[in-house]
Amino acid sequence: MPAISESAPGKTILFGEHAVVYKRPAIAVPVEQVRARVIITALPACNCQGVQLIAPEINLKTDLAILPVNHPLKAAIEYTLDALKINHLPSCVVKINSTIPVAAGLGSGAAVSVAIARAVSRFLGHPLSDDVVSDIAYNVDKLHHGTPSGVDNTVITYSRPIYFIREQPFEQITVSKPFEIVIGNTGIHSPTSETVSFVRSKWLANPADIEPIFDQIGQIVQAARKAIETGNPEQIGKLMDENHLCLQTLGVSSPELDQLVYTARRTGALGAKLCGGGKGGNMIALIEQGMGARIANALLNAGAVKVIQTTISAHA
Ligand code: MEV
Repeated sequence: MPAISESAPGKTILFGEHAVVYKRPAIAVPVEQVRARVIITALPACNCQGVQLIAPEINLKTDLAILPVNHPLKAAIEYTLDALKINHLPSCVVKINSTIPVAAGLGSGAAVSVAIARAVSRFLGHPLSDDVVSDIAYNVDKLHHGTPSGVDNTVITYSRPIYFIREQPFEQITVSKPFEIVIGNTGIHSPTSETVSFVRSKWLANPADIEPIFDQIGQIVQAARKAIETGNPEQIGKLMDENHLCLQTLGVSSPELDQLVYTARRTGALGAKLCGGGKGGNMIALIEQGMGARIANALLNAGAVKVIQTTISAHA
């Protein structure tokens, strides 16, 4: 049997992170330049090695059976088997590679789960629908941080720009005029679980101060949707700056993120903000065509460890 290979893209949140956990809208897009890939190779039927998991980027080479049940890779496989009502995976090697930086706001966990659900279900001869794949990735995300909004698994599964409100069907966004963004990585590891619980404790301690920030972010997202659908990059950039200010007020930016955001703006970006959980990880800048190399270099000089340029179009 030939090896089965499936992959899923990274993602970035253009607008609305954190507030989306509290049922305000968010806009997210896939980032196709970085991907998680899962390759499954069958072992001969007489081979009793069980399921071997190999994930070189996290130095993992192990027997699936000895991983704890709440390990995200094991959970993704188990949830896929549950969805198929199949109780075990025949002997095989499951190899996971990813170019998506971990704990950096680009959806690496959800992308690995999506690629696993697709590869395992196809390996077993019953490819799952996108809805089921997205649910599996959502349930794995819940193990990482108790209250994911669901935006990461959704944008990564459907791989298109989305307008998302928690617990509602997502809407596809029409990008009338493609636009370019540059993503700059601070290199600082910042698990989403930690920033989400940081915001939760602030909200629990003082909802009267935090709810208006979420409301303001919600209004920015609605205005941003209009700007994206009518093709108004200046307005999109201005709204990114406003969204970043709200995230600074929430306390999820960091000196390193601010440094990259301000550098991008000074170098001519139309707008810039942190993206994802914050306190490290990545920022994004909206740029005019032809400005990519200049802004990417400025970000690298200002401390970014990696820069990605991507174009957002109707079916990115
Ligand atoms: C993480 O990519 C985005 C957050 O809003 C968390 C979530 O939506 O689950 C910070």
